[in-house]
Amino acid sequence: MTISNDGPVPQAVPKATILGGSELHKKPAWWKEATVYQIYPASFCDSNGDGVGDIQGIKSKIPYLRSLGVDVVWLSPIYRSPQRDMGYDISDYRDIHPPYGTLDDWRDLKAELKATGIKIIMDLVVNHTSDEHEWFVESRSSKLSDKRSWYYWQPPKYDEDGNRMPPNNWRSFFGAESAWEYDDATDEYYLRLFTRTQPDLNWENPKVRKAVRDIMSFWLEEGIDGFRVDAINYIAKAPGLPDAEIIEPDIPHQPAMHLYLNRSKCHDFLRELGDKVLSRYDVMTVGETPHVEEPDMAIQYVHPERREFNMIFQWEHMDVDRIPGTLLGWKQYRLSEFKAIMSKWQITMQERGGWNSLYMENHDQGRSISRFASDSPEDRCLSGKLLATFLSTLSGTLYIFQGQDIGMINLPKEWGIEEYSDVVSEMHYRQEKERRQRESKVTDPCMKDVVEDIQKKARDNGRTPMQWSGMSPHAGFTTGTPWRKVNPDYVACNAESAVTDPDSVLNYWKRLIRLRKTWKTLIYGDFEHFAAEHEQLFVYKRSLKGDKDAYVFMNFSDAPIYGVSTIVPEFEGDLVLGNYGTPRDDDVVKSTDTLRPWEARLYCARTEWKDYR
Ligand code: GLC
Ligand code: CA
Repeated sequence: MTISNDGPVPQAVPKATILGGSELHKKPAWWKEATVYQIYPASFCDSNGDGVGDIQGIKSKIPYLRSLGVDVVWLSPIYRSPQRDMGYDISDYRDIHPPYGTLDDWRDLKAELKATGIKIIMDLVVNHTSDEHEWFVESRSSKLSDKRSWYYWQPPKYDEDGNRMPPNNWRSFFGAESAWEYDDATDEYYLRLFTRTQPDLNWENPKVRKAVRDIMSFWLEEGIDGFRVDAINYIAKAPGLPDAEIIEPDIPHQPAMHLYLNRSKCHDFLRELGDKVLSRYDVMTVGETPHVEEPDMAIQYVHPERREFNMIFQWEHMDVDRIPGTLLGWKQYRLSEFKAIMSKWQITMQERGGWNSLYMENHDQGRSISRFASDSPEDRCLSGKLLATFLSTLSGTLYIFQGQDIGMINLPKEWGIEEYSDVVSEMHYRQEKERRQRESKVTDPCMKDVVEDIQKKARDNGRTPMQWSGMSPHAGFTTGTPWRKVNPDYVACNAESAVTDPDSVLNYWKRLIRLRKTWKTLIYGDFEHFAAEHEQLFVYKRSLKGDKDAYVFMNFSDAPIYGVSTIVPEFEGDLVLGNYGTPRDDDVVKSTDTLRPWEARLYCARTEWKDYR
């Protein structure tokens, strides 16, 4: 069976009989081999001293991105927006948020990126708009507006005592408040699954879908290379918007995710975008799909025959340290659970023809070193490299979030709750306070445990300014006052010193990114996992016909592990990369028997080792 399948497929033959899951998975594509770098514009680089990152700032860092070796830049939203949710609330899809620059600045940025061989993808946020978008302004103005049905409007309900109530009992996604917002102007409620400034678009309305297609075409015609599609599994709501079952009787607003997440209609809408717009371009798409926690569900979005997305951001691994039912409640994760999740995604996507996205950080997450390894001064660098080894040796498209490249960590533990200004942090704090009051728990007035959870998991952690320099004020991010305080550890952790230090996390990433460009096993290879139950050790093999096998040995703990060689007895290989430094002579032949704390070792198997010397 051949790998390429570019010719026309006879109608009567289902494609699946031509390429099975594994062949589909291995079918080469540029976006499978790409390393994507996510830029969060407000915090990347400020060129004019107003304290907010901007497009000129991004342009000035193109040489840095190039030397890192990334293939694609993903820009988090840079569109015109009142910034109530950091640009994920768009008021004009065809214009740039003025503090970031103009559309012409963006065009220059795109041209310069492309000239250096870097592609660009944009964030597409179309489950909702800002309440300041002209569509919504018109929609809310009158029940007779021709944009009224572009959003979900419903009259109030009233209880026996005549109190006004929202049209149904759905809880908003970001907290225990109603998903509906009352609007005086027309005495009706609108649906907003996120914040009150993010009204949900009504995708049932064909005009809305056409408007979304037009926005996509606008940017595709500008020459972009794809989209990261925000909160896209929310777009289809249950017909009739019925009440959710009462699960928490003490609260009026109930979890209702099953009534608006991953509904089959969602796939119809996405296929329409695929067929009418995306199929006309050679672009990549990655859908952000919170609460997709089963590969079966993911396959419906990413199987090539479904013509929806190339891949999604599944969330299962990011939730291993979250207490279910809370927004940011933190629990110590178990490595065996984490490994089981990762292996499941690796193996199922490969068997079923899907494709993974590999990520451990983005603007919605705490820093991975602080969550999944150790951010203590002595361990952070090893930890950063350990996690880099892990992500870069899996099958999927690799995503690096700004700052992850230099091993940035969470905000300092001494910083109080006032430094956490993100809506989700505020919501979690409020929700936990109310929960305690309801349950009449004796509450520590400082809510220390809640603050500690927020410190671990808050989205704020990923949003502090990028640390460019250890010598300049505010880490060289701005000459003015930064919109968010810079993490004071920039003195030790910054790009400038990382570039020159051969042992930096940054230079380690560079090696891994380079390896992925030539060692196709890392991209397309099958995955085999050893010692699944082990709580400190993560070991796997990657193999691809015609290429050298890769073996990865990692110690996810601060204690040494002995007897490692018994885990994969037949193994022999050469050390390609390890986070304890460059290979030594005695590393060359057999696997190590001991793994030092947080150690990661990537080997190339000696399949023909006798001929090797
Ligand atoms: C996505 C974004 C997040 C935003 C939310 C609402 O999850 O990544 O930052 O708050 O959607 O748009
Ligand atoms: Ca600026």
